[in-house]
Amino acid sequence: MNKEIKKIGVLTSGGDAPGMNAAIRAVVRTGIYFGLDVFGIRRGFQGLIEEDIFQMDSRSVANIIQRGGTMLKTARCKEFYEYEGRKKAYEVLKKKGIDGLVIIGGDGSFRGAVNFSQEFDIPCIGIAGTIDKDIQGTDFTIGFDTAVNTAVEAIDKIRDTMEAHDRIFIIEVMGRDAGYIALHSGIATGAENILIPERKTDMNSIILSLQEKERRKKLVNLIVVAEGDDFGGANEVSKFVKENIPAAEVRVCILGHIQRGGAPSCMDRLIASRMGYQAVESLLKGRYNVFVGILNNKMNYIPLENAVKNKGKVSEEWLKIIKILAT
Ligand code: F6P
Repeated sequence: MNKEIKKIGVLTSGGDAPGMNAAIRAVVRTGIYFGLDVFGIRRGFQGLIEEDIFQMDSRSVANIIQRGGTMLKTARCKEFYEYEGRKKAYEVLKKKGIDGLVIIGGDGSFRGAVNFSQEFDIPCIGIAGTIDKDIQGTDFTIGFDTAVNTAVEAIDKIRDTMEAHDRIFIIEVMGRDAGYIALHSGIATGAENILIPERKTDMNSIILSLQEKERRKKLVNLIVVAEGDDFGGANEVSKFVKENIPAAEVRVCILGHIQRGGAPSCMDRLIASRMGYQAVESLLKGRYNVFVGILNNKMNYIPLENAVKNKGKVSEEWLKIIKILAT
């Protein structure tokens, strides 16, 4: 399939991520630069099926590069998993004359696009956007840097009050399937323990080290837990610590969706602008049904069907460093 593209649609799908607006801006302005008509599709694939579409111009994306969320809104669309839903989406695109689709989202959104791109003659291109950074083939995903910095800022504040009271704090950060937010924010805030889904959590050895601290009368400890950790999240960890060390003063803080909002960091604005530009250029060059990532500071174009979670890939170097620095 190699055809001339004149009208493209852009949508954001799955969980929002800071920097998605910067990516939309880049797609719209690059499209216009290359003489394309660009259409915004609201609420991801759901809005596509429901024909929630409007034409965009350069001004439509003014003053959004610094904003969190997504001006196009987003959704997780079950209907698009079914052939009937995808067919409806195709008919809408045909009706509007849209002949290329830019999808800003995570691996789930890309997997949704795989069947679509195989069933219908609409070239698709993805842009990696998720705070979890859990997609293989890219060192960066839009939103991760901002989310991690939000977590670091919050954990630093918690550390002040933790130290003041000699407490154990268990902080849960986002990451359903991947521990990158926990790993990066935990290292950057000097957490004594970092619990991530990529590694089996050994709570008994954590209890032993806490008991040792108790003997030294210094029971202060920061534990950062990814929400998808196999032990079951911050509340489970807290319960276990209290059962085993009754004298400990334990507090839990779940950072939650605060990590998804806020103004994107400089890094997220940069990668979003770069990926947005490259996505449109790639589409026009006839390289599509791939998603755009950045690997070793070079653009990487990964087939949509290879969009898989970056599981179990935490570097041994980091794991060693955490152990040494947290003693
Ligand atoms: O976008 C990724 C993510 O933030 C995960 O880290 C988290 O588990 C999930 O989305 C939360 O989704 P929702 O906002 O639908 O509850």
